[in-house]
Amino acid sequence: MTRIDHVALWTEDLDRLATFYATYFGASAGPRYANPAKGFASRFLVFAEGARIELMTSTVVAPARQPRGAQRMGLTHVAICVGTDREVDVLTGRLRQDGFEVIDGPRRTGDGYYESVVLDPDGNRVEIAADTRAPAAPAVAFDRLILDTARLRLRPLQPADAVALFAICSDPVVMRYWSCAPWTSVATAEEMIARDRRAMPAGEYLRLGIEVRDTARLIGFCTLFAFAPQCRRAEIGYGMARAAWGRGYMHEALVALLDHGFGALALNRVEADIDPRNLASAGSLERLGFRKEGSLRERWIVDGEVSDSSLYGLLRSDWRSGSTP
Ligand SMILES: CC(C)(COP(=O)(O)OP(=O)(O)OC[C@H]1O[C@@H](n2cnc3c(N)ncnc32)[C@H](O)[C@@H]1OP(=O)(O)O)[C@@H](O)C(=O)NCCC(=O)NCCS
Repeated sequence: MTRIDHVALWTEDLDRLATFYATYFGASAGPRYANPAKGFASRFLVFAEGARIELMTSTVVAPARQPRGAQRMGLTHVAICVGTDREVDVLTGRLRQDGFEVIDGPRRTGDGYYESVVLDPDGNRVEIAADTRAPAAPAVAFDRLILDTARLRLRPLQPADAVALFAICSDPVVMRYWSCAPWTSVATAEEMIARDRRAMPAGEYLRLGIEVRDTARLIGFCTLFAFAPQCRRAEIGYGMARAAWGRGYMHEALVALLDHGFGALALNRVEADIDPRNLASAGSLERLGFRKEGSLRERWIVDGEVSDSSLYGLLRSDWRSGSTP
């Protein structure tokens, strides 16, 4: 399968352009490569999901200059999706305020894009566009997804996980504020795993087991579910064996899951519904940048016990603005 690896821009100031794309578009700028014999230097910019731009400078080659923002034959602009229409407005406003030229929009184009056109410090045209992709069209099917972090591997649950999963979900302390009573039979774990294996290939929800990479031990699971494609919204859930609490494992897992949700799945909002008495869970959400947005009275009745819900929300713009630890 062919794919475009990168496009390249000549510039007189590698670092100025690298800083611009890093500051406003979250690109990470790679190290400078230099070939003094040829008077050449470059840096790669890597954007979310892997798109790359090579910035190049030369003391020998003198590329033809174009008037700032000029339309030209050949490559003429880079289009960067930033999320919703509102995010296009916000970023365009921020760039205008910071002194960059906005030469068009934000507006809805005839072919349905919501976009603005801004000139980068060199005068290249940057189209800032709303992301029109539906979240439930993942590049990797949920049942084959693996997310690795420093200490953990997040991967779909397998039949062999039933005993470990049952050990986690039969613990009354873990299940104290859960939406069902502690499990009493390993068959419940087997059913959940079988359900995942039917539902995940179709993208109905995404549940990943959390395994410690050093020991291959299953310590918990985390889920994105209740996908609302039109609103690019989903709900998050998670649970972990008591012995694994207090070591930052769930935080590490949820950062990876949310990166995937806001990145590959293009979500705009993730919400959580927790028992207000569940302080450990509230702490996990707040550490991730979730805000408590409200409460619903007597929303749950589990084993005869009535409880309220605290509702938390995390927006793509919160996540992108780096409010996340
Ligand atoms: C919610 C739950 C996953 C939180 O577990 P946790 O271990 O407290 O969560 P984290 O992985 O974020 O760990 C953070 C804690 O580890 C500590 N920690 C240790 N090493 C750390 C590291 N390297 N990085 C970050 N935190 C670290 C932090 O200081 C923090 O402790 P604190 O809460 O005393 O400040 C866990 O309590 C649980 O499974 N509860 C039952 C299920 C449940 O209620 N789920 C939610 C219902 S929706």
